[in-house]
Amino acid sequence: MKTKTSIPFARPTIGDSEKQAVLEVLDGDVLTHGPQNKAFEQEFSAFMGGSAHAVTTSSCMAALHLACWQLGFGPGDEVLVPAQTHTATVHAVELVGAKPVFVDCNEQDGNMDVSVLRKKISPKTRGLIVVHFLGIPCPMDEVMQIADKHSLRVIEDCALAVGTYHQDKHAGLWGDAGCFSFYPAKHITTGEGGMFVTKHKDLAEKVTKVRGFGVDRKFEERKIPGIYDVPQLGLNYRMSEINAAIGRKQIERLPEILATRKRNFSRLKAQILSILGVHVPDIHFNHGKSSHYCLSAILPEKIRSHRNDLVLELNASGIGTSVYYPQPVPRMTYYRNKYGYEAAHYPIAELISDASIALPVGPHLGEAEIDEIAGTFKEVVERHL
Ligand SMILES: Cc1ncc(COP(=O)(O)O)c(C=O)c1O
Repeated sequence: MKTKTSIPFARPTIGDSEKQAVLEVLDGDVLTHGPQNKAFEQEFSAFMGGSAHAVTTSSCMAALHLACWQLGFGPGDEVLVPAQTHTATVHAVELVGAKPVFVDCNEQDGNMDVSVLRKKISPKTRGLIVVHFLGIPCPMDEVMQIADKHSLRVIEDCALAVGTYHQDKHAGLWGDAGCFSFYPAKHITTGEGGMFVTKHKDLAEKVTKVRGFGVDRKFEERKIPGIYDVPQLGLNYRMSEINAAIGRKQIERLPEILATRKRNFSRLKAQILSILGVHVPDIHFNHGKSSHYCLSAILPEKIRSHRNDLVLELNASGIGTSVYYPQPVPRMTYYRNKYGYEAAHYPIAELISDASIALPVGPHLGEAEIDEIAGTFKEVVERHL
């Protein structure tokens, strides 16, 4: 039975300006691949510091698929991926016919364990996908050193990393490509949507073409309307003008959204950590910034097997929760059936999937709600201890 929570895990911040922007698009003649998309791409790039080539997509999954394809991963290649991530990260590798090779994460921040990553590199390894877990930056300088040494292409899955920095560089600009999500629960939303970013101009041009069926010329480049050629394969992974118009208004809210998330996360973390034995994955170096997607609390050992009961009790008390992520991806049926699964290889991914509860810190919450989440969480945990 699903309980209705009074403090939801996430709630998109949609105001009058987003509604007005949608109406303006609907009143016009262009509903897809028009000026709203172009402007959204430019504004997103500007938010990241101005050097990114940004290409709107229909989702982060679409951007990841385009990245794996256009970076040339294919049959016979191995691509390193974290075991602890959303299945989209790994599906993208699988869809281009390459083999995902899973890497466990570390307990401190939930990101891919770089020492395990080194050991999994083989002569077949062509690339890797890092995921900034819950918006916590991966140590990209170290990752890029390894990648350069072994000539690996790097994709950053930035689904939860709008506003994430390692050193002073935004996530997505370290590797060859970065992929963002604008699903409703994310920092900003377009309903559904994503953004492919890259520092390589030629890669952005290729992705732009294959995002729209692989046709050889844009509307404005067609001398005779309706006439074009298709020199290559392609997909339709475009974003509509309606979604892009919402995204442009959402970007304007970003500084405030990120500041509120940071404030909420710090307030909640301070209270959650007062419960003995609870661990909260977080950034642990001072040369970067987390985007504070949510607060994932790993339970004390004694009550880990009660996790699902705790979730139901929290929900019954009105606190919305989630789990990031519900299973290590190699344990999911599709991957387990295809590659087999040995739990002993992924102890930390298992711990996070089976013993953590994700709590909200979004901009829909103020101090009173954060204190209520903390108080209820404490009460529920202590009842089981
Ligand atoms: C790490 C990660 N990658 C990819 C995705 C998929 O994003 P989208 O729904 O935009 O395809 C998600 C969704 O939560 C995610 O958490």
